[in-house]
Amino acid sequence: MSQPAWSRVDAWIEQTLLPPDEALAATLEASEDAGLPAINVAPNQGKFLMLLALMRGARRILEIGTLGGYSTIWLARALPAEGRLVTLEFDPHHAEVARANIARAGLADRVEIRVGPARATLAAMIAAGEAPFDLVFIDADKPNNPHYLDAALALSHAGTVIVADNVVRDGRAADPASTDESVAGIRRFMEKVAAEPRLVATAIQTVGSKGHDGFALALVV
Ligand code: SAH
Ligand code: DHB
Ligand code: MG
Repeated sequence: MSQPAWSRVDAWIEQTLLPPDEALAATLEASEDAGLPAINVAPNQGKFLMLLALMRGARRILEIGTLGGYSTIWLARALPAEGRLVTLEFDPHHAEVARANIARAGLADRVEIRVGPARATLAAMIAAGEAPFDLVFIDADKPNNPHYLDAALALSHAGTVIVADNVVRDGRAADPASTDESVAGIRRFMEKVAAEPRLVATAIQTVGSKGHDGFALALVV
């Protein structure tokens, strides 16, 4: 199978299991119009994230890497009315587009966007004694993934689910000789996950409309 076949299957999955969704369609349209890159998770992946949060019964979710808020909306939909999602974004333009998308989706009361470099925001959250999160989705700049893992652990409790996007990158992540900084960040992240006694983890490759990539999934025990 090749990329066109993967995309056909994704389209079939979407048509079969994901009902048309105005807020999500408008989010992708507004993000494209605003010039944001189309590096959001695929629709079936977004629903997968929502399902993980529902299965976990998550009340507090942390996202690192907002973009236009597409994955944010999927995750926030898993929250109860009094739940909270904090999402971290470096680019003020992305954050502004996301804010409008999240408001259109009716989730402004549950979602807070914190603008700035995520490492600094996370350090401030840890220093301020921010309450732990039930699910953390890591999906920003890949070279910083090892740092994001440390911060996620500091903001976790037993039972927290940690998900990282893009841990395969067309298979490049499996190449120990790679000189790509993103690959180095992903590989170091995976090694740190493996070495952390508080984590039980795996990773799953994915193919589809977003190419060949994968998620790492870890549970804090
Ligand atoms: N989670 C989104 C996609 C995120 S794309 C979705 O699936 O819909 C990655 C985002 O991380 C981009 O918006 C980028 O601006 C942001 N980013 C990159 N470096 C960052 C940093 N150091 N701190 C916070 N956000 C960062
Ligand atoms: C990139 C980032 C992502 O989070 C993603 O899902 C795909 C691509 C990127 O930076 O190229
Ligand atoms: Mg991603």
